[in-house]
Amino acid sequence: MSLDIDMKSMKSKPIEIRDFQSSDAEACFRIRAEAFIRLFYEEIGPDGVVDGINAYLPGKYIHLAEALPIFMAVAGNAQIGFIASRFVEHTTIEILFLYIKLDNLRKGIGAQLVRFLENWVRKQHPEIERIVVDTAVPKYNQKFYEIMGYSKVGQSKCQYPTGSVAAVRLMKRLR
Ligand SMILES: CC(C)(COP(=O)(O)OP(=O)(O)OC[C@H]1O[C@@H](n2cnc3c(N)ncnc32)[C@H](O)[C@@H]1OP(=O)(O)O)[C@@H](O)C(=O)NCCC(=O)NCCS
Repeated sequence: MSLDIDMKSMKSKPIEIRDFQSSDAEACFRIRAEAFIRLFYEEIGPDGVVDGINAYLPGKYIHLAEALPIFMAVAGNAQIGFIASRFVEHTTIEILFLYIKLDNLRKGIGAQLVRFLENWVRKQHPEIERIVVDTAVPKYNQKFYEIMGYSKVGQSKCQYPTGSVAAVRLMKRLR
C-alpha cells in the first residue's frame, strides 16, 4: 500500500506513507530511542528510558510487523516517522507506537499518520468501532491526541518486559 499526500498547510511537507519493510527496523529503533532520551527523560527518568528502549530493539519491529499493521512516513529515501497498531478486542484497535523523527516534529506528520491509520481501519476493518492509545507520557503528548479528537477515558498500564508503567488511556470513536 502506498499513498502520496500533499498537505494544504504551509508547515507540512509532502510525504509518502507506505507499509513497513524489514529494512525500516533500524530507523524505527533509532527514532523511538531518540524520543525516549530527548523527550521523555524528564517525565519517566533514566530507568524508564532504559526499559522503554530495551523493550523494542530493531529485530522486534520485524517480528511485530508479521502480525501488526505498521506504516512508515518517508520523505525521499528517509524514514521520518512510523505508526504501529494492534487489535486488542473484536471492536477495538490500539495505537501501539507513533513516533516522528525529532527534526520533523510539528510539521503535521504525526497528524497525517494518525489520519492514515484511522482511514485504513475504517476501510479495511468495518468491525472496528474505536481506536485507543495508552500514553506513559501524557504531559508530553496528551494534548496532541486531544487535538486529533481523542478523549481521556481512564488510567491504564504500558507493559514492558521489565514490568508495567502507569499510563493514561485515550479513545476516539471511528464510526
Ligand atoms: C506526539 C507526536 C507524534 C506529534 O507529532 P507531530 O508530527 O509533531 O505533530 P503534528 O505536527 O502533526 O501536530 C498536530 C497538532 O498537534 C499539536 N501538537 C503536536 N505535538 C504536540 C505536543 N507535544 N504538545 C501539544 N501539542 C502538540 C500541533 O501543534 C498541531 O496542532 P494544530 O493542528 O492546532 O497546529 C510527536 O511529538 C512524537 O513523535 N513524539 C514522541 C513520541 C510520542 O509521544 N508518541 C506518542 C506516544 S504512542
